[in-house]
Amino acid sequence: MKRRYAVLPGDGIGVDVTREAVKVLEAAAEIIPFDLEMKHFDYGAERFLETGETLPDAALEEFKTFDAVFMGALGDPRVPDMRHARDILLGTRFRLDLFMNLRPIRCFNDRLCPLRDFKGEDIDFVVFRENTEGAYVGMGGIFKKGTPDEVAIQEDVNTRKGVERIIRAAFEYAKQHGRSSVTMSDKSNALRFGHDIWQRVFEEVGAEYPEIESRHLYVDALTMQMIKNPKQFDVIVTCNMFGDIITDLGAQLQGGLGVAASGNIHPGQTSMFEPVHGSAPKYAGLDRANPVAAILTTAMMLEYTGLTDAARRVERAVSTCLEARECTVDLGGKLGTAATGDAVVRRMSDS
Ligand code: NAD
Ligand code: IPM
Ligand code: MN
Repeated sequence: MKRRYAVLPGDGIGVDVTREAVKVLEAAAEIIPFDLEMKHFDYGAERFLETGETLPDAALEEFKTFDAVFMGALGDPRVPDMRHARDILLGTRFRLDLFMNLRPIRCFNDRLCPLRDFKGEDIDFVVFRENTEGAYVGMGGIFKKGTPDEVAIQEDVNTRKGVERIIRAAFEYAKQHGRSSVTMSDKSNALRFGHDIWQRVFEEVGAEYPEIESRHLYVDALTMQMIKNPKQFDVIVTCNMFGDIITDLGAQLQGGLGVAASGNIHPGQTSMFEPVHGSAPKYAGLDRANPVAAILTTAMMLEYTGLTDAARRVERAVSTCLEARECTVDLGGKLGTAATGDAVVRRMSDS
């Protein structure tokens, strides 16, 4: 049994937390055991600033030969227009057609739950964020830039194929994981065309899954309900932009961005896994960043590539560490980034 993963540490704390994710993958390979090959790629701000290269076509082709890609965060204040990050991160999502951005919102420990009237176990749902369309596609332009008559247009692209496949993926997930409802969230009361299609497709696809409740919330109401009663949610499906926003909110329900994991998936094809958080430049290289999000992201990657036992072992180890406060300061612990990774590895061999 062999698994080959491409690893891109990225920028800022991406580098710090990816080091710990790699440590955990190596430990999993020894414990389970399985044959592990990791190839590191240094695409990121540093390389862009030195060579002007972001993500060459050949690299993207090479990614396809791996079982999965692990990506740290991208973003560096020296590249203020985020050009490299758009090419590397959004480029990988778009060009590998990774249409499902799966972002679980799960609170592992009561101590991390920020809501007075809820416990950790009450926060357990999954967001299906559309990942290849919407306002992210880069269609539009600026006319008369820098003049008082300037016009900026950013198109919001919603295709039948794109909307249908993410909605269907959400229902399929609900069916396979015994979840009782799918909540679709849009802004169809204001965005008449782009989100009208979400309404129609949701109704059609939902009718194919009569055993699963189809629910709808406008996205403003959704954000309010996520705080008021997160227990009501099983699966949420939404567009690219809203998915981005609500998953930072969701991260806070789990204990913060330091624990939120995600997968950019096209079933049956090479997919990409990354923590939800960014490169947090102010913490870069200080041994302060929380590696748990990156570590839980490796669990998603292991699971997606068929190593379910390894995935569960990583999750159990993280949960035990959180209970024992073997974690970084943002989660109430005293450890640095590397010591947290070591603690997870130690707990992996215990369990
Ligand atoms: P960010 O997620 O980097 O940081 C926001 C704050 O969250 C940090 O200041 C910190 O307090 C906290 N935080 C985030 N991750 C943490 C961790 N692992 N441990 C402890 N605390 C953590 O968001 P930002 O400041 O808006 O963005 C910084 C850069 O990252 C920008 O360039 C942005 O575009 C980029 N970004 C990249 C990705 C990605 O590549 N996946 C995701 C989000 C943001
Ligand atoms: C995320 C990030 C990215 C996004 C940025 C860095 C382009 O915020 O993965 O959540 O908006 O998708
Ligand atoms: Mn985001």
